[in-house]
Formats: sequence, C-alpha cells, structure tokens
Amino acid sequence: MLSLNDFQQQAQASLSPEAWAYLQDTAGRGFTAQANRDAFDAIQLVPKLLANLRKSSTAVSLFGQTFDHPLFLAPIAYQRLFHVDGEMGSAAAADAQGGAMLVSSLASQSLESIAEASERPLWFQLYWQGNRERTLRLLKRAENAGYAVVVVTVDAPVKQAVCELPPHIWAVNCEQPLQANPLKAGQSVVFDGWMSQAPTWDDMQWLREQTRLPLLMKGVLHPDDAEQAIDLGFDGIVVSNHGGRVLDSVVSSVDALRAVVAQVNGRVPVLFDSGIRSGIDAYKALSLGATAVCIGRPYIYGLAANGAMGVAQVLRLMRDELEMTMALMGYSKLRF
Ligand code: FNR
Repeated sequence: MLSLNDFQQQAQASLSPEAWAYLQDTAGRGFTAQANRDAFDAIQLVPKLLANLRKSSTAVSLFGQTFDHPLFLAPIAYQRLFHVDGEMGSAAAADAQGGAMLVSSLASQSLESIAEASERPLWFQLYWQGNRERTLRLLKRAENAGYAVVVVTVDAPVKQAVCELPPHIWAVNCEQPLQANPLKAGQSVVFDGWMSQAPTWDDMQWLREQTRLPLLMKGVLHPDDAEQAIDLGFDGIVVSNHGGRVLDSVVSSVDALRAVVAQVNGRVPVLFDSGIRSGIDAYKALSLGATAVCIGRPYIYGLAANGAMGVAQVLRLMRDELEMTMALMGYSKLRF
C-alpha cells in the first residue's frame, strides 16, 4: 500500500458497515468536515530554493519529552472496534515511530495495559465524567499509570449517537454512566438532561488544581476560550473541531488555528487536528503556528487495514511526506 487512499480502501473492506460508518461519521451534512479539507487545499506553498538541508530534523520537544516528529495520534474511542490490536497496537506504533499518542477516556483496553505497550510515557485524553468525584478518579488512575500529559476535551458535552458497540467492546476505564435526573414535564432533554452533567469554566479551574501534570484543553475554536484557558493556567491548547463530528457549520480547523495562534502569541504551545490527510497538510498547519498536529481517522485506516503495523506504516508515510515537503520548501527545522 503506497498511499493513505490504499489504507482507507483496505480499512473499509476489513470493517463491518457499522464500524466504518462510525469512523467516517460527520455531524449534520458534513459542511465542517468539507470546510476542513477546503481550507487545507486553498493554502498554496511558495518554495525557497537551494537551502542546505543536510542537518534537517522534524524533532519537537514538548513538556519535557522529545519526539522524532510532530505527528501525534489523536484520541480515538473504542479502537478494538477496528482491530484486535486496539489501543495497545496504536500505542506501540506511535512509540516505534518516535511519536506521541493521546489515549482516549473511551479506550477499549485498560489504561495500564496501553501504557505498558509504549516505552515512552503516553498522553491521556480526559472526558468529563459527569461530576468532579468521578472525573478525579479517572484522572488519578491515568496519573498512576504513568501518563505524562492530560488533554481535556470540552467540545462534545452533548452526547452524539454512538454506533451500537458489540458486547465485547466498551469503555473499560469508565464507571457506569450516571443516570440523569428524570425530566419533569416541559423540561428540555438538552438543557435539563445532558447539559446538567456537562462541565463549566468553574470545573476547569477546579481541574487545573487537581493535577501537576501539564494540562491542555482540546476542542478550542474561539480565541476568547484560548485566552480563558491560559488565564486558568492551562499549559497548551488543542485547536480542533473533532474532525467535523460535533457541530456542523463550525469554522474550519485551519481558520480557527490562524485566529487562536494570533491570540496565544507564543505563550503556550498550540496543537492542532481535524482534516489532516497528508504530510503536506501537516506542514501547512505547522507553518501556521501549530507546535504539533494530531491525526485521527488516517491512523485508524492503518489500524483497521494492518493492526499495529498499519498504524506505523501510515505514520511513516506521513513523516516521509512531511520531510519531503520541508526539503522542497527549503525549511530545515520545524520552527517557522
Ligand atoms: C474521535 N475523536 C475523539 N476525540 C476525543 O477527544 N476523544 C475521543 O474519544 C474521540 N473519539 C473519536 C472517535 C472517532 C471514530 C473519531 C473519528 C474521532 C476526535 C479525534 O480526536 C480528532 O479530533 C479528529 O479525529 C481529528 O480529525 P481527523 O484527523 O479525523 O480529520
């Protein structure tokens, strides 16, 4: 398989129609997912020639860890749905390729076994667990398992329809979902139901006080939210529209990156995901000021097609594309 397209086709052939639909799902009519792609495609590159690139590198240092490249694995739920290797396979592949993985709160294997699959400490993606006590228990479990960085995802407080999971696959690290209070006549399912368990800025302030690990906020699109997170002492921002899966018609990830990078102005690292499908896309996001980027669906194509090896192959493919783009653009390091 020579291109991401090959992995995507192989993944579709390997997966059940339900698992494939869950992976490819977008919110609404897919406007945001399309906007993510259109924004990348609209960026044109102007190379600078004849640079000396003999000592070039894609290495990046973040929160005391050094990685060989800035292509991180985004948190993706229920990975055993896509291959028996599951999250442990993805973690081993990220490690073998010298990169980072953000492990989802909704992982289908235990946080401890995933951590053991990687020599370097992994990052933990935290979803709010309905209240502070439950959230703290999950956070402490990740800390005790050796996770190095916490990334709290805050862009999906209203539950979306998830695909029906086979009985042997579930969010093994989460406690039973909290039962919402029964609604009274005239109450709203959204405001009085789902949102009654959603976090607020007060909870983010509380969360900041609960861990000494570096804490990032994922799902930021508005510069004001980036500012508020920095005010609360967050150590980084992840610009993301969840791959266009939450609210259709939100701003493209690339346009949001431009706005957030301008606001943050170098005070904390800004990471990025949503829409990257090649090393050229990664280069574009990095050149707009992202310190590192996460890939989502592309590595799951690799996982579904060929397990842990497939994830490593997709990472290698995209690393090669990134290096090639840097070489042809005349940039020797990822500090633009
Ligand atoms: C996700 N995403 C996600 N994000 C998160 O913070 N926690 C999670 O558990 C999940 N689960 C999840 C499942 C599936 C099947 C997909 C496709 C996505 C969002 C993910 O981390 C990332 O933001 C997007 O996937 C990035 O967009 P691309 O690269 O898929 O376009």
